Amino acid sequence: MAEKNLDRREFIKVSSALGAGLVLAPYIITPAKTDKNKPLNIALIGCGAQGQALINACLKIPNIKFKAVCDIWESYNQQRVFRLLEKYGHKLRAYVDFEDMLNKENVLDAVLIASPDFWHEQHAVKCMEAGLHVYCEKEMSNTLEGARKIVQAARRTKKLCQIGHQRRSNPYYLHCFKRVINEAGLLGKITTINGQWNRAVQPDNGWPEGKAISLATLKKYGFENMHQHRNWRWYRNLGGGPIVDLGSHQIDIYSWFLGANPFSVMASGGTDYYDRNTHQWYDSVLATFKYKTKNGVVRAFYQTITTNSSQGYYESFMGDSGALTISESAGRVGIYKEPAAPNWDEWIKKGIIESPISDTPAAATVVLDARETIAPPKHALPIKFNDPYHKPHLENFFNAVKGLEKLNCPPEIGYETAVTVLKVNEAVQAKRELKFNPSDFRI
Ligand SMILES: NC(=O)c1ccc[n+]([C@@H]2O[C@H](COP(=O)([O-])OP(=O)(O)OC[C@H]3O[C@@H](n4cnc5c(N)ncnc54)[C@H](O)[C@@H]3O)[C@@H](O)[C@H]2O)c1
Repeated sequence: MAEKNLDRREFIKVSSALGAGLVLAPYIITPAKTDKNKPLNIALIGCGAQGQALINACLKIPNIKFKAVCDIWESYNQQRVFRLLEKYGHKLRAYVDFEDMLNKENVLDAVLIASPDFWHEQHAVKCMEAGLHVYCEKEMSNTLEGARKIVQAARRTKKLCQIGHQRRSNPYYLHCFKRVINEAGLLGKITTINGQWNRAVQPDNGWPEGKAISLATLKKYGFENMHQHRNWRWYRNLGGGPIVDLGSHQIDIYSWFLGANPFSVMASGGTDYYDRNTHQWYDSVLATFKYKTKNGVVRAFYQTITTNSSQGYYESFMGDSGALTISESAGRVGIYKEPAAPNWDEWIKKGIIESPISDTPAAATVVLDARETIAPPKHALPIKFNDPYHKPHLENFFNAVKGLEKLNCPPEIGYETAVTVLKVNEAVQAKRELKFNPSDFRI
């Protein structure tokens, strides 16, 4: 049998003729498409805020055909997204239940998963077992066990699984990692990282009148009521709170840029502001990680607060020669030279950084005392990126499905980040420094 060339429709026909056991023999399914222009048929599970952001990015990528959407909130998010895609010419069907979708749709190549974190394991594992490549939003899972099962399913089924840490495909981040830090070494020896995601007070999510999901459906899909369904992030068994929801994006970058995982974490946090019955996870968390890199120890601070938006969100990498501030919001990206570091003209000429843009030239910095200077001038990056934030990461995934690129965030990396951030909540509870073993990050 020419097994490797069976497409999914043919595979289902053959496997049902031969018996159910074959469904678990995914190596029979074509692993990747190699024709760059061949359309990919995809489905979306979870049509909420992030599902809609992914659609918005996909609509700007050629040759992506939505064949199905699935969401338990039929009367609202599901129909809204279904109609939007129809308007853009996609011929698709809508489902409430993802297994129903997997049983009926037989031309799918891949699925995007943007359901709440506690559903990711089931959605990702079953989709890969059904022969689909998976783009699974962060946080990969709200439990380590769930994240581990996703890695194991990807290995077992040989399906691709991209975890939605989209900064890993962002041109600014790639440029900083490859050229600013590794090629030019502009930061010198990195000693410290500081990062944050601060948000203003937000009311709980509500829902339009007459659009509540029935209690039976909510319970079938793991929600006690509509408040939980709309605010799942704050509930202990459904999400991980702001440190996991927001922090995982940025703490993932800490480990990526340092080329290391942390060896310890300490954290302080609590639900200080919101109602603890409906905000079971901590509304403020301050964490400190320690890393051992080939250049020495790095201390990395991270804070997320939900009561004030001061300074928004960014990561700042500080070394003995310079500092890099970077954020998904491009306006914040800048590199600052320590006054005593050797000059950076060579790197400006090579196009790694731009000329300083401060009106205060470095030579004219005012010496406040022997050790302090006013802020050094900012060097911008020669990068132009105005696309939706998720587009490059989705493109990387689709290109990997076509056999043209490697995934920028395979499940093993998502797992390492899950190990790192899920431990912060444990550290808050333990009220002491917790250690990581290198083996904690491996499966
Ligand atoms: N990468 C990013 O920048 C980013 C940003 C925001 C959210 N996210 C992630 O995306 C995911 C979704 O977040 P969101 O903000 O869109 O949440 P949301 O609550 O707005 O949307 C979730 C949707 O999933 C649906 N749903 C719930 N259970 C389902 C199930 N079993 N089957 C099918 N549909 C189901 C809900 O009805 C809802 O429409 C989360 O994992 C979140 O962490 C990622």
